[in-house]
Amino acid sequence: MAVFPAIIMIFGGAGDLTWRKLIPSLFDLHREGRIPARFAIIAVDRVHFRDTELRSRFLDGAKRFSRKGKLNGSNWTAFARHVTYHQGDFNDPAMYSSLKKKCEKLDKEWKGKAGHIFHMAVPPAMVGIIPRLLAEAGLNRSKMHDRIVVEKPIGHDLESAREMNSTLKESFHESQIFRIDHYLGKETVQNILAFRFANPLFEPIWNRRYVDYVTITVAEDVGVGHRGGYYEHAGALRDMVQNHLMQLLCLVAMEPMVSFDADEIRNKKVDVLHAVRPIRADAVPECAVRGQYGGGSLHGKKVRGYRQEADVSTRSKTETFAALKLFIDNWRWQGVPFYLRTGKRLCGQFSEVAIQFRSVPHQSFPREASRDWHPSRLVLSIQPEEGIVLGFQAKYPGSKILLRPVEMRFSYKESFAVPSPDAYETLLLDVMNNDPTLFMRADQVEAAWQILMPVLNAWGKSRPRSFPDYAPGSWGPRAADELLARDGHEWRPIG
Ligand code: BG6
Repeated sequence: MAVFPAIIMIFGGAGDLTWRKLIPSLFDLHREGRIPARFAIIAVDRVHFRDTELRSRFLDGAKRFSRKGKLNGSNWTAFARHVTYHQGDFNDPAMYSSLKKKCEKLDKEWKGKAGHIFHMAVPPAMVGIIPRLLAEAGLNRSKMHDRIVVEKPIGHDLESAREMNSTLKESFHESQIFRIDHYLGKETVQNILAFRFANPLFEPIWNRRYVDYVTITVAEDVGVGHRGGYYEHAGALRDMVQNHLMQLLCLVAMEPMVSFDADEIRNKKVDVLHAVRPIRADAVPECAVRGQYGGGSLHGKKVRGYRQEADVSTRSKTETFAALKLFIDNWRWQGVPFYLRTGKRLCGQFSEVAIQFRSVPHQSFPREASRDWHPSRLVLSIQPEEGIVLGFQAKYPGSKILLRPVEMRFSYKESFAVPSPDAYETLLLDVMNNDPTLFMRADQVEAAWQILMPVLNAWGKSRPRSFPDYAPGSWGPRAADELLARDGHEWRPIG
C-alpha cells in the first residue's frame, strides 16, 4: 500500500494511453484498495472537456480494458470522484501555476504534502517542454515528493536519447525520473529474477559451460493498426528491441545482485549491455535480419500488407520484423550466441526466452535409442502462457532402451490462485511508492541504443530490395532462420 497521499497529473489526459491503460489500471488498483485513500487524478490536456464528459470517456475505457472486467456502479462512482480535468496549453507557464495551486490546495486539505506524479502520456516532442515548465513553476523541488514518469520512446537514436535524458535531468534529479518499459511490470518478466536467484539449482549451469545458445522471441500477430504514423518512423528495432527485448536480455544474462536495492539491480543490468560485443558496420548483414509483412490471410481473415496500412508509405522501407545475433563478452557468456527476434503479423502472440543447453559430452546410449534425442531446454514463457517448461530426456516405457523428450511444467495459473496484475498496475503503484527498481535508468537506455546504432545506421543507408518479404501468419523472413542455421542452431518451434 502506498504510504503518501498522491496527486497523479496525467499530461495527455484526453489521449489513448490514458483511456486504454492508465485509467483502467488505476481503477483496478483503487477497487482492490491498493492506492492511498487520499489521492487525486488530474487529467491535463488542451481539448475542452467537462469533468462529466471526461468521466464517461474514462468509464468506457475502464469497461473495455479493466483487468477485472465487469464493474459495478458503486466501485466506479467511488473511483470517479477522485478524477478531474484540467484544460490548458502545455506551452503556457500559467497552466503550471494553476496546477501548482491545485496541488497546494489538496496538500492543505490533506494536512501534509502529497506525492506529485507528473505522467507524460504525450508525444516525445512535449517531453522537451513540460519538464522545464514544471521546474519553472517550482513543481520539481522535492526529491521525495515530485516525480516525473516518461513513456517510451526515449529517443529515436543514441543522440536524441542523450538529448532527452539531459533535458529531463536539467529539471529533475535522476531519482525523480521514472522511465517506463511496461515489460518490466509483467509478472513473468519479474519472475526471471526470482527463478534465477531464489533457487540454487540453475545458477551453477547458467553459463557458457552448459548453455549452447539462447533465443528471445517476442512475436505479435497484430499489425500496426492505427499507429502507422508513429511506426513508420520507428520500426521493429526501435519499437521493441531497444527496450523490451534488451530488458529480457539483461534479466537472463545479468550477474546475481548483492541486494534488492534498485540501483544494485540496475547496475547489474547495465553491465550486461556494456559487455555486448559491438556490431561492426561490415558485419551487420551477418548479425541482423529485417523483414516487412505483405498482405494475405491470418487466422482465417484477410489482412493488409504493411505498405497498405494507414499513414504508411507504399514504398516504405520500415522493418516490421527484426532479428539479431549478439555476443556478451564476459566470463559467463563468452562465445554463447543470444538470438533476439520480434515482429508483427507473425503467426501468434508469443513471448519467451529459451535456454538451449549443450549436448551430453559423450553419447553412451545406442544410436537407435536416441533417434528423438534433444539436448535439454528451459523455456521461460512470458505470454500468453505464463510459466516455465523444462524439456529433457526420459526412457520410453518398454523392454528396449528408447529415449524420448518429455516436459516438466510450471504454470502460474495452476500454481497460484490469484490473477496477475496488469503491468501498468505494478508500475503505477511503484511510482506512488517511490520504488524505481522496475524503471529504466538513463545509462541503461543509452547503452541499449549504443548496441543498435550500427544496425540502424546500416539499415538507414540501404533500401531493402525484397520488402515485403514475409507472409502474415508466418515466422518472418527466411533469413531469420538462416541466421541461426549458419551456426547449426534453430528457433524453438512455438505455437
Ligand atoms: C509496445 C509497442 O511497447 O509494446 C507495441 O510499442 C507492441 O508495438 C507492444 O505491440 C507489445 O506489448 P504487449 O504487452 O502487448 O506484449
